[in-house]
Amino acid sequence: MFVADCLQVNQEGHLCIEEQDTLELAAKYGTPLYVMSETQIRKNCQRYRDSLKRFYDGNGLALYASKAFCCKEICRIAAEEGMGLDVVSGGELYTAISAGVSPEKIYFHGNNKTAPELVAALEHKVGTIVVDNLEELEMLDRLAGAKNMRQEIMLRVKPGVDAHTHNFIRTGQIDSKFGFALETGEAMAAVKEAVGRSNVVLTGLHCHIGSQIFDTEPFLLTARIMIGFLAQIRQQTGCELQKLNLGGGFGIQYTPEQDPPAYETYMERVSSVIHEICGQLEFPTPYILMEPGRSIVGPAGITLYTVGAVKEIPGIRTYVSVDGGMTDNPRYALYQSEYQIMNAGLALQEKTMRVTLAGRCCESGDLIGENLPVQHLEKGDIVAVLSTGAYNYSMASHYNRMPNPPVVMIKGDKDRVIVRRETWEDLARLDV
Ligand code: LLP
Repeated sequence: MFVADCLQVNQEGHLCIEEQDTLELAAKYGTPLYVMSETQIRKNCQRYRDSLKRFYDGNGLALYASKAFCCKEICRIAAEEGMGLDVVSGGELYTAISAGVSPEKIYFHGNNKTAPELVAALEHKVGTIVVDNLEELEMLDRLAGAKNMRQEIMLRVKPGVDAHTHNFIRTGQIDSKFGFALETGEAMAAVKEAVGRSNVVLTGLHCHIGSQIFDTEPFLLTARIMIGFLAQIRQQTGCELQKLNLGGGFGIQYTPEQDPPAYETYMERVSSVIHEICGQLEFPTPYILMEPGRSIVGPAGITLYTVGAVKEIPGIRTYVSVDGGMTDNPRYALYQSEYQIMNAGLALQEKTMRVTLAGRCCESGDLIGENLPVQHLEKGDIVAVLSTGAYNYSMASHYNRMPNPPVVMIKGDKDRVIVRRETWEDLARLDV
């Protein structure tokens, strides 16, 4: 019935996350409110760890892509679960380091890292920097040299795979700002350049073909292409690179109709493709890295709102205005993303309304969804939007000077704030 295991309904018919009644959480912390299930997050991390062990002899590491939701507590949980971490900015790096994540398990991404960010990465002894372009390679080599360091790097490669997903989040094809293209020879030239530099050590390649992908084929094709390229590199340079980072992108269920394959299925298939192609090319099976973000935190989160007004426009639509909106969840405005919603107090009742869930911004496009089936709703009701754990808090804005909601973490019957609610003072704290 629900898109995540951590959700159920109690005897009063209220939506619960783990053992906590969402109406009680809304009363205790106020709305809008992000709520996350720690048990679900840990379970999701374990699935990656266990599948790597089961299908690839544990010869790899899953990195949590912290862009999906970055705060200190999530970094701590991912690290406790044995995950490495993918960071993409100085801010994410700072958060990970402050949370006590081991720097050698951090992979630093980004298509335009700044000099201060690279210096911070070197000073914190970040394990791997994933280099995106030649300018960055040159800058990093120089900065590492100035510190008498040799920094381990990977190169980001565009394998040229179309992942059949939303255009905005498709990154594997040539027309992308990320990485070096294979087809044009740019990637091979970058490998040769990196190998010739003295203050960086090239350990492998990285690729990432997109996000919210359901089809396993593009991942398998990518693995084939990347291993083919590793073999070509050996042929042309004599270098046998040991690591292959296959990126993230595993889809999750936002609505009951969606049916993403189990991660285990993907891992089993990709492992067999890697073994097959490595056998054919007589290339040693590489140490592989995965970078799941959405599939770790997405299903573990929900957002609770209070209904302020219900505006029925006869023959047109019914607007239900809630106390949050595009400032805490911009994904409908950006990608027309779908969500399942419910009246948290009437969770088992039939969905008799079709509504447009609207936010509070001075902006007609400030919607969380349109034509959404939901139980009867009226002023004061608590609406739950499901699967909001990924790319909601991390993409939140302060448009119209809306403070960001807090994040409450649930474990069994315990709840704790892991990010506090922003205040109006917080919003003005940098104003001069
Ligand atoms: N690795 C790299 C290099 C990435 O760029 C991304 C996501 C990931 C890993 C994690 O991908 P995931 O497993 O979460 O799909 N804001 C969009 C999603 C953008 C994804 C950007 N990169 C959304 O809300 O759907």
